[in-house]
Amino acid sequence: MPWTASDIPDQSGRTALITGANSGLGLETARELTQKGARVFLACRSLEKAKAAQATLAATAQAELIPLALDLADLNSVRRAIDQVRAKAQALDLLINNAGVMAPPRQLSAQGLELQFAVNHLGHFALTQGLLPLLDQRSGSRVVHVSSGAAYFGRIAFADLQGEQRYDAWGAYAQSKLANLMTAFALQEQLQRRGSKTQSLVAHPGLARTNLQPTSVAARGSRLEGLAYRLMDPLFQSAAMGALPQLYAATAAEAEPMAFYGPGGAGNLKGYPSRCRIAKQALNTESRERLWQISAELSEAALGN
Ligand SMILES: NC(=O)c1ccc[n+]([C@@H]2O[C@H](COP(=O)([O-])OP(=O)(O)OC[C@H]3O[C@@H](n4cnc5c(N)ncnc54)[C@H](OP(=O)(O)O)[C@@H]3O)[C@@H](O)[C@H]2O)c1
Repeated sequence: MPWTASDIPDQSGRTALITGANSGLGLETARELTQKGARVFLACRSLEKAKAAQATLAATAQAELIPLALDLADLNSVRRAIDQVRAKAQALDLLINNAGVMAPPRQLSAQGLELQFAVNHLGHFALTQGLLPLLDQRSGSRVVHVSSGAAYFGRIAFADLQGEQRYDAWGAYAQSKLANLMTAFALQEQLQRRGSKTQSLVAHPGLARTNLQPTSVAARGSRLEGLAYRLMDPLFQSAAMGALPQLYAATAAEAEPMAFYGPGGAGNLKGYPSRCRIAKQALNTESRERLWQISAELSEAALGN
C-alpha cells in the first residue's frame, strides 16, 4: 500500500516550523500538517507572504498558524526569526527546512555568500542550530531537510565554495542540495553522540510542478529552458505529490535517519514515498565534517553562538 497524506498521524498538540511555506511543496506540507492538527509557523521570505499563506490555509487549519518573516539570504533575519520563535514557543516538534532557490545567475547573500549556498544550505544550517534547544524539549522531534535528485550530481567545491573562481548555476544548485543531504547525516550523527531524542531526516520530491522552475527560468531569462520544461511536463507530478516524501520523513513512524526518501516511481521522479539510493558523495564522513566545520564558522559570527 502506498503511503499517502491520509496516513499522516494526528498532529494535535504538536508544533512545526516550515520554511518557504507560502509556495509549492512548503505550502502543501503546511496544509497537510495543519489539517492534522499541528500548530504551524509559516516561515516565509516576508511577513506579507507568510500572512498570505495563513489566509490561504485558514479555512482548513485545525490549529494556530503563525506567520513568521525569515529571509534565509540574510543571517540577521535568521537570528531574528529564531528569537521570535523562542518567544512564542516553548518547544518544537518539527523543523522542515524546505525553502530553496534553483540555478539563478550568480548573486550574493547579505553576508556576501553565493545565494544558493546561503539560502539552500547555510541559512537552514543556522536556523537549525538556533532552534535545536526547542527541538530538544520534545521526545521524537525531527528536523527534515529537503534535498533533491540534483544531489546525485553534486560536488562540494571546497576550494571554491562560493563560486568566485568559476560559477556554474546548476553546479552550485547541486552542491547546495548535496550539502542538505550531508548536513542531514552529520546532524544525525551529532544528535546521536549527545544522546538527543531529536532525529534528522532527509527527503526529496522528485520532479514537482511548483514555482521553482518558472522562477529559475525567469531569473536566467532562458526561453530554451522554458521550452525544455514544457516538453518535460509529463515527467512532473503535482506539488501535493511532491510534498509526500518530506511529510513521510516528518511524520511516519517507520521513517528513519541516515536514509534518503523520495518518490518510488521510475528514476525516483514521481510516485509515493520510498527509500532511494544515497548519493555516494554524502557517505564520506570526512567531507561531511569538513562542510559542517565551515558552515559553523560562517554562521557563528552572525548568530553569536
Ligand atoms: N519542485 C521540484 O521539482 C523540486 C525538485 C527537487 C528539489 N526541490 C526542492 O524543494 C524545495 C521547495 O521548492 P518548491 O519546488 O516548492 O519551489 P517554490 O514553489 O519556488 O518554493 C520555494 C520556496 O522557497 C522560498 N525561498 C526562496 N528564497 C528564500 C529566501 N531567501 N528566504 C526564505 N525563503 C525563500 C520561496 O519564497 P518566495 O515565494 O518568496 O520566492 C518559496 O516559498 C526546495 O528546497 C527545492 O530545492 C524541488
